[in-house]
Amino acid sequence: MSGRKRCLMIGAGGMAGNWLRRFFAPFRDRMEVVGVVDVDPKILESAREFLGLSPSQCFTDMAQAFDEVEADFCGIAIPPAFHRDAVLHAVRRRLPILSEKPIADTWESALAIYRAVKDAGLKMQVIQNYRYEAPMLTMRQVLRGGDLGRINYIVGRFAADYREYGSWGKVFRHEIPHSLLVEGAVHHFDMLRNLSGSDCAKLAGWEWNPAWSTSKGEFNNLFVMRMANGVRASYEGSGTAAGEQNTWHEEYYRAECERGAIAVGRDRVVRIHRFRKGGGLVTEEVPQQKPTYEGHFWLVDEFLTWLDGGPVPDTVLDDNIKSTAMLFGAIEASRTEQVVDVDAMVREVTG
Ligand SMILES: NC(=O)c1ccc[n+]([C@@H]2O[C@H](COP(=O)([O-])OP(=O)(O)OC[C@H]3O[C@@H](n4cnc5c(N)ncnc54)[C@H](O)[C@@H]3O)[C@@H](O)[C@H]2O)c1
Repeated sequence: MSGRKRCLMIGAGGMAGNWLRRFFAPFRDRMEVVGVVDVDPKILESAREFLGLSPSQCFTDMAQAFDEVEADFCGIAIPPAFHRDAVLHAVRRRLPILSEKPIADTWESALAIYRAVKDAGLKMQVIQNYRYEAPMLTMRQVLRGGDLGRINYIVGRFAADYREYGSWGKVFRHEIPHSLLVEGAVHHFDMLRNLSGSDCAKLAGWEWNPAWSTSKGEFNNLFVMRMANGVRASYEGSGTAAGEQNTWHEEYYRAECERGAIAVGRDRVVRIHRFRKGGGLVTEEVPQQKPTYEGHFWLVDEFLTWLDGGPVPDTVLDDNIKSTAMLFGAIEASRTEQVVDVDAMVREVTG
């Protein structure tokens, strides 16, 4: 399959609006949107006008769109509870899929998606845009380069003040169960895999909601992990952070290594810290990589290249199921107050 790819886009507002208006824009010579679905007619109409589509290319009903639109791939950027329906329709039409994270809102749905896509032999890539931002590409490169020696442990922190109901972008995030894990931590767990260069073996900890939270789902996370390569990791996630903020794109990550530490945080500057006997702590700023495309743009480029026979991206379904297992393993660890064998969860699915 080469030439300009035809996309059926599921979702037109929120993050999907960003896909349509921003992330697809540099790739107009490689793809076009030929159909759009959104349950909100006003949002649909606005997307229709922006894209210059005819009304017959716009749908409020997903099933009808999949029946009628001839496409080469499908984009999915609707709330996680509806990902399963969209993927199963895409599988029915044998369309490759580029989907927003998380794979789904439950482990059961994530498994149903995994099996359907794998059985059909289709390509599916999951968005993990934070891996491809300049500071994180830079930090990963330093860790892989070996200058700091072996990694001992990694600390990850996300902290945002979403104490006011509705302040986290969309109301559904204040309503769904396990909210911070499902909508937030899946990014950060994926980053811990990305930085450590390994997959999670075991995970323990808790999610909870403080008594004064205005949200229904759990807004706080404290988890510890052991990765398969021996690296330990911890994760603090807070949607009720009253203190220092490490919100989107400004998360704090620190890797403690054999010959120093590397960290990034609110100012997005990557710094290496080394302690020298007699010399004290020496800190240097690391010049950052400048990729042609960052974040979502990187992923769209990678996906289109993959469809044209290019290399398999890092965040394909087979890989992303491992970050998804961490998310649902964390829910299980908290519920049972036990250490969860995340590796076994993955092996159960992938065989
Ligand atoms: N990668 C990132 O940085 C990032 C950031 C924000 C959101 N997201 C992800 O994007 C997805 C959507 O989140 P959002 O914040 O845009 O949500 P949203 O509530 O804004 O929904 C997006 C659009 O989907 C439409 N929609 C809802 N249910 C639908 C259905 N069943 N069929 C068709 N359309 C439907 C809504 O009307 C809306 O226009 C989620 O998976 C979320 O995790 C990713």
